[in-house]
Amino acid sequence: MSPDVLQDRFGRRIDYLRLSVTDRCDMRCSYCMPEGFSDYEEPQDWLSFAEIERVVAAFARLGTSRFRITGGEPLLRRNLSQLAANLNRLPGVHDLSLSTNGTQLARHAAALKAAGVSRLNVSLDSLCAERVLDITRRDALAQIQDGLLVAQSCGFAPIKINMVVMGGVNEDEVDNMAEYCFRHGFVLRLIETMPMGNTGRNAGYVDLQPIRQRLQARFGLVDGVVRGGGPARYLVSPDGDFSIGFITPLSQHFCETCNRVRLSVEGTLYLCLGQEHQFALRPLLRAGISDAELDAAIRSAIELKPERHEFREQPGKIIRVMSKTGG
Ligand code: 5AD
Ligand code: SF4
Repeated sequence: MSPDVLQDRFGRRIDYLRLSVTDRCDMRCSYCMPEGFSDYEEPQDWLSFAEIERVVAAFARLGTSRFRITGGEPLLRRNLSQLAANLNRLPGVHDLSLSTNGTQLARHAAALKAAGVSRLNVSLDSLCAERVLDITRRDALAQIQDGLLVAQSCGFAPIKINMVVMGGVNEDEVDNMAEYCFRHGFVLRLIETMPMGNTGRNAGYVDLQPIRQRLQARFGLVDGVVRGGGPARYLVSPDGDFSIGFITPLSQHFCETCNRVRLSVEGTLYLCLGQEHQFALRPLLRAGISDAELDAAIRSAIELKPERHEFREQPGKIIRVMSKTGG
């Protein structure tokens, strides 16, 4: 039996689920969490591994095949590789990836690889130790770079580096970062700062379109024909060895091709990063609903997915920080 296709009211196929396994983080990135932030979910409200597996199995039954583990910082969740291994064994799970800030990556890379995590995204906004400290409030550049090399030696390829570009903060480092990624064989992705919470609103939004044109000319890049599974639009070198992705939710939004929803650590499905539409699964899971009822609940949640974000029209709207929904 071929799996059903999970589709929203706008005909978009939902084939990608992002799973936040913790809202905690060992960093405090200026665009994400406020410095003294401690308004975390209570452990009894976290979905257990068994509950997460149940939700993933349901999505997979409904035709979703790609899953990404996020946070907060997902490697802070104890025994994460065990969860990854369990998820990877579920029927219909074809692509399991992980986003991390890299601080604990050196320690976990081998186990993650063995668990079947196929792709890695690592956040890195600067190659200057002092700036990393300023942006993340943690002196972690060396640790992150070590993590990247260890992950590479464990066979992760390609590794994507996510850089949030901020005016007056790291905008001047884009070219350096491109060269660093080129040297190491990483894929660079530049991200426009989104107005999530006051932190996101105050971080210094920069329009990436002029930066894109400059990089294209400087490195002789051409438009990537094939898009990845996500919103990034790529420029590639003519030999195909190097690519830079641009994630531009504000200057050129991509909502019409959105293929994803997010599950927060406490079991709420968020249907859009830039909207409040949500559906609480935890109470249903803990009330002992059947698989058929869970599938029906997910289908009705997908019905709530809004057409698009309103980051431009209503930049003050979203007060939850990114680490709550999963970046
Ligand atoms: N705008 C854009 N991206 C953000 N992230 C967190 N907060 C924001 C924001 N306000 C993303 C970044 C970071 C990841 C953990 O979450 O990609 O690397
Ligand atoms: Fe942590 Fe990522 Fe938020 Fe930075 S952006 S504080 S690494 S969750």
